[in-house]
Amino acid sequence: MSTTQIKTFEEYQEAYKRSVEDPEGFWADIAETFTWRKKWDKVLEWNFEEPDVKWFKGGKMNITENCLDRHLKTRGNKLALIWESNDPKERFVRFTYKELHERVCQFANVLKNNGAKKGDRICIYMPMIPELAIAVLACARIGAVHSVVFGGFSAAAMADRINDAQCSMVLTADGLNRGAKQIPVKRVVNEALQTCPSVERVIVVERLGWAVQMVEGRDVWYHDEVKKVGKDCPAEEMDAEDMLFILYTSGSTGKPKGVVHTCGGYMVYAQYSFCNVFQIEESDIYWCTADIGWITGHTYLLYGPLLSGTTTVMFEGIPTYPDPGRFWQVVDKFGVSVFYTAPTAIRSLMAAGEDHVLSYSLDSVRVLGSVGEPINEEAWYWYHLHVGKDRCPVVDTWWQTETGGIMISTMANVTPMKPSHAGLPLPGVQPILIDSDGNELTENEVEGYLCMKFPWPGMIRTTYGDHERCRLSYFSTYKGLYFTGDGAKRDKDGLYRIIGRVDDVINVSGHRFGTAEIEEAINHNKDVIESAVVGYPHDVKGQGIYAFVICNEIPENADHLRAEIVETVVSKIGKIAKPDKIQVVSGLPKTRSGKIMRRILRKVAEGDTSNLGDTSTLLDPDVVTEIVEGAL
Ligand code: PRX
Repeated sequence: MSTTQIKTFEEYQEAYKRSVEDPEGFWADIAETFTWRKKWDKVLEWNFEEPDVKWFKGGKMNITENCLDRHLKTRGNKLALIWESNDPKERFVRFTYKELHERVCQFANVLKNNGAKKGDRICIYMPMIPELAIAVLACARIGAVHSVVFGGFSAAAMADRINDAQCSMVLTADGLNRGAKQIPVKRVVNEALQTCPSVERVIVVERLGWAVQMVEGRDVWYHDEVKKVGKDCPAEEMDAEDMLFILYTSGSTGKPKGVVHTCGGYMVYAQYSFCNVFQIEESDIYWCTADIGWITGHTYLLYGPLLSGTTTVMFEGIPTYPDPGRFWQVVDKFGVSVFYTAPTAIRSLMAAGEDHVLSYSLDSVRVLGSVGEPINEEAWYWYHLHVGKDRCPVVDTWWQTETGGIMISTMANVTPMKPSHAGLPLPGVQPILIDSDGNELTENEVEGYLCMKFPWPGMIRTTYGDHERCRLSYFSTYKGLYFTGDGAKRDKDGLYRIIGRVDDVINVSGHRFGTAEIEEAINHNKDVIESAVVGYPHDVKGQGIYAFVICNEIPENADHLRAEIVETVVSKIGKIAKPDKIQVVSGLPKTRSGKIMRRILRKVAEGDTSNLGDTSTLLDPDVVTEIVEGAL
């Protein structure tokens, strides 16, 4: 469909070779297919020491002109966005490219009318309603930097993110629907903003029709504001390296970091990876189930599909409401041909039994995708057989918030597919594996730390407000390389299999949390002195959260204490980071230098205490016996 779409394995090999030998020529040819107000002066300038990476330097453009305006002539009446409600009885909403363009321009005018301008940071804390997609694009239209905060984060987590980015505006809604529940979103925003002095304006979209508390002089309703503006809004001219968005993600230290993506490179990479991995065709109805609050929603619900002129589906609900057949019902309803979801959703639907999936035809489906965490073979085969009816390829796409787009993945029906393997790198991506001594493993059939040795256009440029943190987190472990934090294997044919994080990051249902971040939240509980958090294998979530806590005194009622700890984590981070198991202990296994030996805790959490390894270097080896005996 796209002129840069690779169709055969031979073309892939050719493209890959060129992308390594002549990266600038390779990416320039792809970038040529977009609308630029002014062409770039230089395709790439980079070093991984500072790091300093610039793609398409001097180029001028606006990503929304590429998502919307350039399609108006040929695809003006094609559907751009189909929105499906949480409630199967509520009518779906659809927008053609022409209609979406108009709505984005209107929202952009509302932003401008309320004082927003190029370079301002705007926090978006909204449910999965069409206005969320429109709001994100409206920010990009006027050159404001969007920072979307996932609706499951607590007031405290939102406040941290708003303050870090010094946002001047918040876009939100009165409330949200999630399965059978309704959640008072605006109330959470009001609580967060008590500690956010930078916010001058809050624009509220009505979703539930609830009476909410509006702060005079600060809060306005979107439906009032939109009446005051026109439908015309020329796009702001952006430099290719101007900031497009900030998205916060967890690392191995306490505070989440604001990953910064810029306009030009991100645009080129989002579109190129989207149309190639999924082998998009003009008639596709494409559905990515991720929330726009995560990078998957940014790149593959919104930007990638719209840049490609594809019809993208947005779903407000959850996979199991009103029953575990909901996804498949929506697939049949719209004739979805490309479906992209997370292993955790597949596993939860698998557990609900085959009847739910077998009740639907799923005839329209052509390509299936998986993202966010390793997909185990059982889930892979179930997905392939029951959803893909043994005829659709499953693309297991490996990437990160920091990479902006898919890096290693099978390209549907083009490159080799192997269950539980991400496969080969996309053209332009140069992964390498490093051993524990920091040497490159050049052979196949090896396992090591996954790094990138060459820049790609969609990569992270900095961490907002703290460039040194970016350098330390990604570019200092191995000199001259971007370190992903993941371990991976390469098989005899060069296909990659991602094993998972090798740092103190837990991946719960495809969402990243630093153990330090959860420990910090737990330690806020008045009865807790210290805690240590590790991940353990969980049937549905991939990894569960296991917390070991030391208290002031042995609690009389451990269940009560556990409930309080859970409550603290929910208020500091959000429901998504709730510990699954909490064990009260009198001490933690520490080395003489005071470092917690997490390896031992991980083994206990996994229920594998047969071989705890060498414990002789511990300060107090007896503590291990107690922990093992009290394991949950
Ligand atoms: O550990 C890898 C895992 O998710 C991490 C990135 O998380 P995040 O930035 O939240 O982005 C998730 C969506 C792109 C990675 O470091 N991960 C992501 N995709 C896969 C994966 N692990 C195995 N296989 C995948 N396909």
